[in-house]
Amino acid sequence: MSENIQKHILVVDDVPANLKYAQQLLGNRYKLTLASSGAQALKFLKKNVPDLILLDINMPEMDGCTVIAELKKEPVTAMIPIIILTSEVDTAMELKCLELGAVDFIRKPFITEIMLSRIETQLELSAYRDRLEYMVNEKTAVIERLQDVMSTCFAELVESRDGTTGGHIKNTTRYFAVFLDELSKHDEYKDVLTPEYMKNLVRAAPLHDIGKIGINDSVLRKESVLNKEEFDHMKTHTQIGGETFQHIFKSVEGTQHHCQIGAYAFDKIFDTMNVEESEDTIFLHIARDMAMYHHERWNGTGYPTGISGENIPLSARILSIVDVYDALTSKRSYKEAFTHEKAMQIIVEDREVFFDPKLTDIFVSINDKIKQCLLTKNLSSQD
Ligand SMILES: [Fe+2]
Repeated sequence: MSENIQKHILVVDDVPANLKYAQQLLGNRYKLTLASSGAQALKFLKKNVPDLILLDINMPEMDGCTVIAELKKEPVTAMIPIIILTSEVDTAMELKCLELGAVDFIRKPFITEIMLSRIETQLELSAYRDRLEYMVNEKTAVIERLQDVMSTCFAELVESRDGTTGGHIKNTTRYFAVFLDELSKHDEYKDVLTPEYMKNLVRAAPLHDIGKIGINDSVLRKESVLNKEEFDHMKTHTQIGGETFQHIFKSVEGTQHHCQIGAYAFDKIFDTMNVEESEDTIFLHIARDMAMYHHERWNGTGYPTGISGENIPLSARILSIVDVYDALTSKRSYKEAFTHEKAMQIIVEDREVFFDPKLTDIFVSINDKIKQCLLTKNLSSQD
């Protein structure tokens, strides 16, 4: 019982005798707040969050149903359990309140034992739900941290084999995050680029070249320009990366579907599996798209599938611009680093050829921010 002393209950009833009765019955068990109207209750609830609300249905001016509807509009008050108090057998009204979100009802005249039992049950359920929510949030945070560490470690593992792309993954991810932040402010993208989706995009971006793990050292570490055969082999890093995430996806979903390679093959697998996307699969879907399609071109001359325009996933279209920008502004064994201005000029020339024209325009509009990132990168590489 001592646990309940701390519980806070708001009782809303327009009949003073009922409030007095509630005070007598519950006052020594719970912290009580009494309100004599719906309006008074809503005013109190703007600044206070009780553990439970006992709400009379039949009240003048604002009835119980209206109060419930108002409370369900706000996330903070929507979660407070509401038990409705009815003075008569009004099944239709009770049903309406339950549909609106009330958790139980108590009929008047109150039977003390029933009232206490129902209040206790709802308080216990509410506490259990809160504990469960806390545990889920904690577990989610741990999984997210683990994902971040694994993404970084895998990306660094790939980069450690590739003698020519020092810092590429880290730099590209930095440009990507700045670009993404700008895109999320534009009307055309702000509905798609939700904070949760952007978090997954930034987490998946470092893994876009993970398929290089399957490229031979003689090609990956070659210090001169690749010949056709070598380049064809290098190009397979997109398929290998895409397949890697597809295999992970299959493991997560426990499906036995055979993995295929080719235009839209992965999307067909997703469709036939009729999988509803969860948080985990959204991340894998994004990581797969980026790994698979980041070398596709707007005009359809890219690889591995040759898809074009908006058929290329948005994540890959965004990434391809910053991926090329970093490649252009970085020194390679076979070329010097281009200046920021030269790299921007090349990207603009390839607008609507290699790159999504709308995305290119927005990338150019944050020219200064990208240049600042490049200068910061160059400064830190001198340390
Ligand atoms: Fe790549």
